[in-house]
Amino acid sequence: MTHTPPILSPSLLSSDFGNLQRELEALEQAGLSWVHWDVMDGLFVPNITFGPPVIKRLRATSNLFFDVHLMIDRPERYIDAFVDAGSDLICVHAESTIHLERVVSEIHRQGCQCGIALNPATPLEVVSYLLPQLEMVLIMSVNPGFGGQSFIPFTRDKIQHLAAMISEQKAHTLIQVDGGVTLENAGELIGLGADILVSGSAFFGYPPYAKRYQDYMQAMTARLAPGS
Ligand code: DX5
Ligand code: ZN
Repeated sequence: MTHTPPILSPSLLSSDFGNLQRELEALEQAGLSWVHWDVMDGLFVPNITFGPPVIKRLRATSNLFFDVHLMIDRPERYIDAFVDAGSDLICVHAESTIHLERVVSEIHRQGCQCGIALNPATPLEVVSYLLPQLEMVLIMSVNPGFGGQSFIPFTRDKIQHLAAMISEQKAHTLIQVDGGVTLENAGELIGLGADILVSGSAFFGYPPYAKRYQDYMQAMTARLAPGS
């Protein structure tokens, strides 16, 4: 646990796509600081969502931290576009590109924070050498592509191992967990070492957002020892 307090990043995938501007305003008013954008290309994952023009348009109306999760094939083709759209952090999948270090360096060169996402079955070793230069590693706790899936239990172990790798290397990388996060497992996931939880269906399905956020923050901090 390196980030105190932990962060909740609501996934817009479960929000009202007809009113994205209103949704972003509502998140900000509810006190949230991050928002998670799930970009899907119908190739890397079987679903399609939105791309840089939508993000750019909404960047102009929002002060939230734009946490952009790219589920697209060969993301190196679109780094310029997502930086230009106003992403604060761009997260690419290790499985989506051959030259991962090159993509990470390019994201940083363009002045953006960078994360690497790992599908549930992808071993942690693929990020081992990159940890010192990464702001975040995203542990997928479902197979990417859809909201509302059930948490895959073995990813608990993966969170713990990643936390150990990070502290062993004295790195400052934050751990994000995405998929199947609920009010019920949020505290446990933070206890295992997660710093940032993404929540889609279990967040947007339970308005008002201020109350839901408060409940999440309470669940996320309940098991932390004071000062940890
Ligand atoms: C899945 C996405 C997630 C998704 C999470 O491919 O990366 O961010 O929105 O949805 P829930 O929280 O409903 O599992
Ligand atoms: Zn996501």
